[in-house]
Amino acid sequence: MKFKVARKTAVCTNCGFCQLICRSHENCIGCAACVDACPYEARGLEEISESEQREAVKIKVNHEKYSVPARISVLSALEFIGFTSVIYKDKEGEPGDTEIIAPCRTGGCWSCAVIINGDLKPSCVTPVEAGMEIITGKDAIEKKEPKRVVSGFQGHAVGGVGTPHWLKPRSFGFMLKFIEVACFSHGCILRCPTCQNWEITYSAAEEPLSPAEAARITSYERGRCGVDRMAISGGESTLNRRWLLEYLKELKRLNRDKKARLHVDTNAVVLTGDYIDALFLAGATDIGADVKGLELDTFIRITGIKESGLAQKLLDTEWKAIKCLVENYSDKMFVGIGIPYNEALISLDEIYKIGERIAGWSPDVQICALDYRPVFRRMDVRKPSYEDMLKVKAVLEESGLRCVICQTEFGRIGP
Ligand code: FES
Repeated sequence: MKFKVARKTAVCTNCGFCQLICRSHENCIGCAACVDACPYEARGLEEISESEQREAVKIKVNHEKYSVPARISVLSALEFIGFTSVIYKDKEGEPGDTEIIAPCRTGGCWSCAVIINGDLKPSCVTPVEAGMEIITGKDAIEKKEPKRVVSGFQGHAVGGVGTPHWLKPRSFGFMLKFIEVACFSHGCILRCPTCQNWEITYSAAEEPLSPAEAARITSYERGRCGVDRMAISGGESTLNRRWLLEYLKELKRLNRDKKARLHVDTNAVVLTGDYIDALFLAGATDIGADVKGLELDTFIRITGIKESGLAQKLLDTEWKAIKCLVENYSDKMFVGIGIPYNEALISLDEIYKIGERIAGWSPDVQICALDYRPVFRRMDVRKPSYEDMLKVKAVLEESGLRCVICQTEFGRIGP
């Protein structure tokens, strides 16, 4: 096994974000969470020289004794003894007995959680320790309440991609009225260089919440803000399927009135058809799904997923989800589709083709064109101007779409 540790490079600005998210300050376990999170790309993994001797620690996994190297994550320890970890599984079905699905790898989503000394913990960022007793069995894990890191419960005045246009304010200058309450799930499978929510996406320092705890807070915030809509965004909300479905069911149970709307915002890259069915049955009433490109090159540029095989699978899943939502669910839930725009990331020609494809399924679905601004790792891009977004709107309408709203620096334009 080759050992790696994260080190800072000369471009580090000492912003401190990596310190905030790290769980192994004294002894780096090489989990790479800080490498993915650093907005300056100032951290990298370095291989440790062959000569370094690592002491071994004794652990138990599913009641069997093992000896594994010290100063690695629990996930790496499991891999060391023969488990495999995957970022994404495109075939339906459960992971095998020795397979861990670990999509975010930064400690936020808890999809990779195993039982460590009796408690559920995320295996990707938890340091292995001598004497640990680890249980990976699905049945045992399902007896525990699922958890994930969720934060930012508060009133929201703008809404998201899945918020109907007639509720959205026209101008940011008059954002005095909340239209929904939102919370944000941490952890994402993507690595978008223009991530708008990177401080939430990559942070996992907060205490994780069970679905019931999160649903109680959201319901309380709904009452406090006097709204009917309750949204979950991210990070990526659909990682950790069990958590999200239980959260929606509990939210529905706590908000039985007919006015309550349960809104899920997603990048749709893991949103399979059966998952959409399950979200609907769990109580979702509104879904906002983001497109991240039509061409693979564009998807890779926007999402930062460099491995082309994985990128292609995620892109395919995203488009199948969009088609399923538009064709099969537009009469059951409110469906909104988000389309990104920045001249450095996607061409107007591709925007047209995206519009044409969606219009072929339904010209009336709500489209929200999003102006991708300089943020996180792409501070070099130019902020799309109001005129740029007017052009995007015209292109999407030319493609056949009839309900196009655009987010601009001065508020939204469109119906
Ligand atoms: S994969 Fe470990 S917390 Fe998300």
